[in-house]
Amino acid sequence: MKQLADIVGAEHVLTDPDLKASYETDWTQRFTGSALCVVRPASTEEVAAVLRACAAEGLKVTVQGGNTGLVGGGVPAGGDVLVSLTRLSTLGTVDPASAQVTVGAGVTLAALQGIARDAGFDVGVDLAARDSATIGGLIATNAGGIRVLRYGSMRQQVVGLTAVLPDGSVFSRMAGLEKDGTGYDLMGLIAGSEGTLAIVTEARVRLVPRFRARAVALLAFSSTQAAVDVLPGLRSSLPSLAAAELFYAPGLALVRKHSGLAAPFPEEHEAYLLVECADLTDPTSLLVQAVETADGLVDARIADDAAGQRALWAYRETHTESISAEGVPVKLDVSVPVRSLPSLVERLAPTIAGVAPSARPIVFGHVNEGNLHVNVLDAGDLHEEVSDAVLRLVASLDGSISSEHGVGRAKVPWLSLSRSTVEIETMRSIKAALDPHGLLNPGVLFP
Ligand code: MLT
Ligand code: ZN
Repeated sequence: MKQLADIVGAEHVLTDPDLKASYETDWTQRFTGSALCVVRPASTEEVAAVLRACAAEGLKVTVQGGNTGLVGGGVPAGGDVLVSLTRLSTLGTVDPASAQVTVGAGVTLAALQGIARDAGFDVGVDLAARDSATIGGLIATNAGGIRVLRYGSMRQQVVGLTAVLPDGSVFSRMAGLEKDGTGYDLMGLIAGSEGTLAIVTEARVRLVPRFRARAVALLAFSSTQAAVDVLPGLRSSLPSLAAAELFYAPGLALVRKHSGLAAPFPEEHEAYLLVECADLTDPTSLLVQAVETADGLVDARIADDAAGQRALWAYRETHTESISAEGVPVKLDVSVPVRSLPSLVERLAPTIAGVAPSARPIVFGHVNEGNLHVNVLDAGDLHEEVSDAVLRLVASLDGSISSEHGVGRAKVPWLSLSRSTVEIETMRSIKAALDPHGLLNPGVLFP
């Protein structure tokens, strides 16, 4: 401990249980673990020295960004050193020539969006936890969110990385080369490795154009199939399509209960699709035209002003907090091929009722990627059984047990539903090559 204090300063090594507490439990209160101490380094050099000191003592290390994760990946395993990266908060200057910027791993997504927008750009990834989620965590989990339809996940935004390997050596490719054909894509490997291979300390992020002209529509449908069926038409008639988010009547009712929002339509409908277009010139008339010609809609509302758009987005973006206000849910983040989405939704309720009859599923997600967030309230002590039933259903539809939240500690027992033995063994070989003593994020990802 003395050695860690010498590296980062005594005030940044927390051993007092009260000071450690906020780092030891995730915000959903589903995961908790006691850390030997919390260490808060402020530079790549300090992270490297901390890892060297931990390696010398055989101490395991868990890495944490904004602690907004949903699978327990950033919560201590127990008895390990928790390395919190929030002090790595350096904001670089946007380089307009390359449309890139360099930021520290502890910079929040909102702060990165702020500097990008001030310079006339934007960030290709956006999600509801933007005010707390950090760039390092977004990269480590290959986070997705509400813009994947247009710009891809976090891995696609990374053009440079500095990362510290478990032995304290530093890997740095920060030139931001858009083309680089020299061997393995190590940055792509570290992105999405959930802190099991290296600690990301700095990233060079690709920026996207800033489209200030927006139009948002909330579309109502009588079935998931109808909502899925309008997608191809929307994609081809709306080149400015930037988001397509799905939710259902029970989620909307919960959102309205906790937020006091008015009903969006005179009548309740089965499924809702929130779509956003973003462009240089006002996309409203194109969106109106697309909505008017779409088949299968039962009602629609379009907002062309900022306040109206925020109001429509609130129906979708307050799902997570409204669910948490009801209790501690089983939270599953899955994806299936889009064509199988209606079948998944149809079979979810009976599958869940089969193991937990009084459970209440609340489902929403990112429809273009076939990504559903399956939240199950009132599952009592049947969290494990509900998870098992849902994840097996997803696997039977050729889906993934984790679409954008990662595997963390929560999904480890089910990894083999989505990855073959050969794939898991290949991942284990990579882990063993980079982290032979298993120091980084013990218990995360691997069964
Ligand atoms: C979302 O899309 O809102 C997030 O993934 C959060 C969640 O699943 O609760
Ligand atoms: Zn999501």
